Amino acid sequence: MENENSKIGIIGAGHIGGNAARLFVKAGRRVVISNSRGPETLDELVGELGDNASAGTVEAARDFGDIVFVSIPLFAYKELPTDGWEGKIVVDSNNYYPERDGQIAELDEGTTTSSEMLGQHLRGARIVKAFNTIWFEHLRSQGDTDLPLEDRRVIFMAGDDSEAKEAVARLIEDIGFAAGDTGFLHDGGLMQQPGTPLYNKDLKGSDARKAIAAGA
Ligand SMILES: NC(=O)c1ccc[n+]([C@@H]2O[C@H](COP(=O)([O-])OP(=O)(O)OC[C@H]3O[C@@H](n4cnc5c(N)ncnc54)[C@H](OP(=O)(O)O)[C@@H]3O)[C@@H](O)[C@H]2O)c1
Repeated sequence: MENENSKIGIIGAGHIGGNAARLFVKAGRRVVISNSRGPETLDELVGELGDNASAGTVEAARDFGDIVFVSIPLFAYKELPTDGWEGKIVVDSNNYYPERDGQIAELDEGTTTSSEMLGQHLRGARIVKAFNTIWFEHLRSQGDTDLPLEDRRVIFMAGDDSEAKEAVARLIEDIGFAAGDTGFLHDGGLMQQPGTPLYNKDLKGSDARKAIAAGA
C-alpha cells in the first residue's frame, strides 16, 4: 500500500544508488533515479527496474522523492542544487575519502562532518546519514525480510530529526535490514565514518547496540 514516504528520489546511480534502487523497487517503493550524465544514460538500469522506476534529472529526483537518497562522491556535493529541499528527508550515504575527494580542511580539522556540510548545502533538508558503513555488495545481498529484526544486519543512521529517522528506519526494514540509531547528526555521524569500529562491520541485534553504546 502506498504510504506517505513511498516515493524515493535517488541521486547517484552507482554501486550504492543503483543497488538501493533495486532494493527499494523490490520493496514496493517507486523511484526516480538520476546521475550526473543525464537520464538517457540510465535506460538499461530503469529497464531492469521495471514500471516502478524511471530516470530523471537531479531536480526531478529531488522533486519526486518523499525521501531523497543521495549517493555520490563527496567531492561533487556542491554541484547539487541548493534550493527545493525544504522539508525533504534526505538520506546521505556519502563518505569522505581524501584520496578521491581531495583534502577538505574542515573535515580534517574535525570542526564539522560531511553530512553537516551536505545539510548546509541542501537548504532545509532533513538529513539522515545512513547506508555509509555497508559495502555495496553486502547491501545488494545481505537483506532478508524473512528474518526477525534482531537477526538482521544493522544499517546505521544518524540525524537530528527523529521523524525523518523513523521514515528511514522503515525504509531500511522494508529492504530486509534493521536500523541502528547512532544518535545526532554530528556525533552519531562521526561514528559511521571510514575507519570507525562500525565501518563495514556485519553487526546484528545486541552486538550492534553494544557497539553504539560503546561510542564505537
Ligand atoms: N561503494 C560502496 O560500497 C559504498 C558504501 C557506502 C558508502 N559509499 C559512499 O556512497 C557514495 C557513492 O558511492 P558509489 O560507490 O555508489 O559511487 P559510484 O559507483 O562511483 O557512483 C557515483 C554516482 O554518483 C553520480 N554522480 C556524481 N556526481 C554527480 C552529480 N553532480 N550529480 C548527480 N549524480 C552524480 C555518478 O553519476 P555519473 O556516473 O553519471 O557521473 C554515479 O551514478 C560515495 O560517497 C561513497 O563513498 C560507498
